[in-house]
Amino acid sequence: MLVHLAPRADEFVALLAKRLPERTLRHSISVANFIGGIAEQAGVDRDDAITAGLLHDMFKATKAHELLAAAERYEIPITPIQREKPMLLHGAVAAEEARRNLGVTSDGVYEAMFWHTTGRAGLGRVGLALYFCDFAEPLRTMPESAEARARLASDGFIPALLYVAERKVEHVRAKYTVDPATEAFFGWLQQEYR
Ligand SMILES: [Fe+2]
Ligand SMILES: [Fe+2]
Repeated sequence: MLVHLAPRADEFVALLAKRLPERTLRHSISVANFIGGIAEQAGVDRDDAITAGLLHDMFKATKAHELLAAAERYEIPITPIQREKPMLLHGAVAAEEARRNLGVTSDGVYEAMFWHTTGRAGLGRVGLALYFCDFAEPLRTMPESAEARARLASDGFIPALLYVAERKVEHVRAKYTVDPATEAFFGWLQQEYR
């Protein structure tokens, strides 16, 4: 598998296997494989992309009160929406954990993991690639994920990314209060790339 070509991939997979249910583990490896395969097309360093892909959901199975405690310990600012739904902190806590305890030093990887759920205005390239791959990785069964992969092949990274951002925002608007970071990300993407 492609992820095993990246330094430390085996170490990270072993760590994930201890803390994630099978389904999330398979998703994480699938994101890593996918993002590694499109790294050049997305304009990102392949090892950084694979690291972000592998580790982005490492707190996905962590209990709400533990996520809140970790966020407080790491001095991550907690928004009212996140206090209500602590699962929204899983990316931010993963970013801090990777930097503080796993020796992951790349700022791009940190930002990508931190913001992978909502995006943010000005998100860097690794972040854009992770945002895209988290939605479009081949184990996702939604038709929109297949469509995103098809658009990547036919139209390239940015048009495929815009498609994903539109689908995600539509979905969130229909179901929940939209996080201000998501709105800002979406507005910025439209302005920057449309
Ligand atoms: Fe996630
Ligand atoms: Fe994910």
